[in-house]
Amino acid sequence: MHVAITGASAGIGAALAREYASRGAKLTLVARRKDRLEELAKEAKHAFTVQADLGDVDHCADWVDDAVRTLGPIDVLVNNAGIQIIGPTESESVHKGEDLLRLNVFAPMRLTRAILPSMLERKTGTIIDIASAAAIGPMPGMFYYNASKGALANASEGLRGELLGTGVHVVTVYPGPVDTDMGQAGYTKYEQTTISRLAPLGRADVLAKRIVRAAEKKKARVIYPRLYVLAFMFPGLARWVTPRISPPLLPRNVQPK
Ligand SMILES: NC(=O)c1ccc[n+]([C@@H]2O[C@H](COP(=O)([O-])OP(=O)(O)OC[C@H]3O[C@@H](n4cnc5c(N)ncnc54)[C@H](OP(=O)(O)O)[C@@H]3O)[C@@H](O)[C@H]2O)c1
Repeated sequence: MHVAITGASAGIGAALAREYASRGAKLTLVARRKDRLEELAKEAKHAFTVQADLGDVDHCADWVDDAVRTLGPIDVLVNNAGIQIIGPTESESVHKGEDLLRLNVFAPMRLTRAILPSMLERKTGTIIDIASAAAIGPMPGMFYYNASKGALANASEGLRGELLGTGVHVVTVYPGPVDTDMGQAGYTKYEQTTISRLAPLGRADVLAKRIVRAAEKKKARVIYPRLYVLAFMFPGLARWVTPRISPPLLPRNVQPK
């Protein structure tokens, strides 16, 4: 099985790479930090590493042909690479915000478009989209991030329906807070409150196992930590509750545009 993972150099992507490597998968690992990818590649029997800035949307799929030539057709595409911006919306750089949208939304859509035809032709394949619980209960202070994850989640959910009966399956993943560089950086942007201290923090290795199992069992989605299933069941309530229990943003200097 050939699994291609974007954003494999850290966090959830690296945990997924380890989980798939432990199952004997051939891995294509994509990110900007090549040294980290090379280190991780040692854990897999067969691995192909790609140094790429996926925010450069016109070239974000340039590696696909080389990966296929090296390891064979891609059986699983994991659209995981992403960044987060947290801060007061009115002072956020519009350019950085739009860069985020390119990486978090347009790159996964381009990669899906690049790889889906071969999956359809072979009548098999899995696309795993790492969205966020922010797609269900958007967080204050995440103007661009909320938009990006809502867009990716909706595209992913719709594509799964479109592909019913084709042999190609789509898994949409909704992580709540997970203990990674991104997860930890998020905490530094908000005041600590009793509720934020009590909120469950997920583990990347546990999430990775759940994602791989969901893909094998052709489950539609993964929501983790489990508490966030409630948000999925009652989205209206989640949207009402989230801004009311979210910790206040820490004040910061206004950044120039
Ligand atoms: N952690 C959480 O609490 C949480 C919650 C919900 C959803 N998520 C989502 O889960 C995914 C993974 O997040 P994480 O927590 O594992 O974050 P992370 O630890 O910050 O890792 C992000 C990964 O994305 C890659 N990346 C960032 N910018 C890139 C670019 N321009 N081109 C190519 N790769 C790039 C990074 O690699 P390089 O820097 O080496 O390029 C890294 O491998 C993201 O889509 C995130 O939105 C995370």
